[in-house]
Amino acid sequence: MVFCFTATGNSLYAARQLDDELISIASELRKPAAERHYRADAIGIVAPLYEFDLPRPVEEFIQGSTFDTDYFYVISTYGMHNGGIAERVAARLEASGRPVDYYNTVIMLDNALNVFDMDEQRKLDPEKRVDEQLTAVRADIDARRRYIQPAIQEEVDFYEGYMKNPFDLHPHADDPLYRVEDTCVGCGTCSRVCPMGCIRIEDGRPVYDYDRCANCYACIHACPTKAIRYVRYEEPNPNARYRNPHVTLADLVAVNCQL
Ligand SMILES: Cc1cc2nc3c(=O)[nH]c(=O)nc-3n(C[C@H](O)[C@H](O)[C@H](O)COP(=O)(O)O)c2cc1C
Repeated sequence: MVFCFTATGNSLYAARQLDDELISIASELRKPAAERHYRADAIGIVAPLYEFDLPRPVEEFIQGSTFDTDYFYVISTYGMHNGGIAERVAARLEASGRPVDYYNTVIMLDNALNVFDMDEQRKLDPEKRVDEQLTAVRADIDARRRYIQPAIQEEVDFYEGYMKNPFDLHPHADDPLYRVEDTCVGCGTCSRVCPMGCIRIEDGRPVYDYDRCANCYACIHACPTKAIRYVRYEEPNPNARYRNPHVTLADLVAVNCQL
């Protein structure tokens, strides 16, 4: 059994390579915590890394659910620097009574459009050898390997440097993260790919409930007219958007749609 959280499909693609029984974290979070009890030989979590940590809804899902399993694993997909997440987050989960048997990271395309030009990121993709990494992770999981990826010093330094001066990526009601341009056609794709169900269409335009927004950029990347823009930091290329090439828009809607 593998649980997945995804905005642009990287973690969905990775999760599919690891287990056939795939469950959406976004959907499960709609259930009360008392009903989130899962039992399987092996249970995995696959999710993107946000600012060198788990996305907030993924942490909430793990902490608020019970997992009855002999083998609990976590895979963080990321794009550039993992900041030594595995050791740090595995220690935190263990301290909160959720020990992890296996924690690894998989480098994929970086979808952080507040920092990177997606067209440039696509050029780096072949070097990342995603399928080779996933084959190795799958072999580890099948062998029930016990392993927490060690944090290399360069990554720890990167993480610590970032934490001294982090981006302010979190939504505030009085300071919206996103702007909707006049090219919006009111199709509602943004609301259907949002894993948090925080976008409603009013008068043909998306309206955000920033209290629930996970800042995942699913809406921006999926907009067919590129009408949603990130506003707090200047995007390197507002015309370049990304979806994992093995994942369709319908796949993303199927795992994320809360409507
Ligand atoms: C808000 C945000 C923060 C991110 N932070 C990091 C980061 O600290 N380090 C990194 O290497 N990638 C970072 N990324 C990139 C994603 O972790 C990466 O592209 C991931 O594979 C996306 O998975 P998904 O397609 O399943 O959503 C970030 C992406 C977003 C949207």
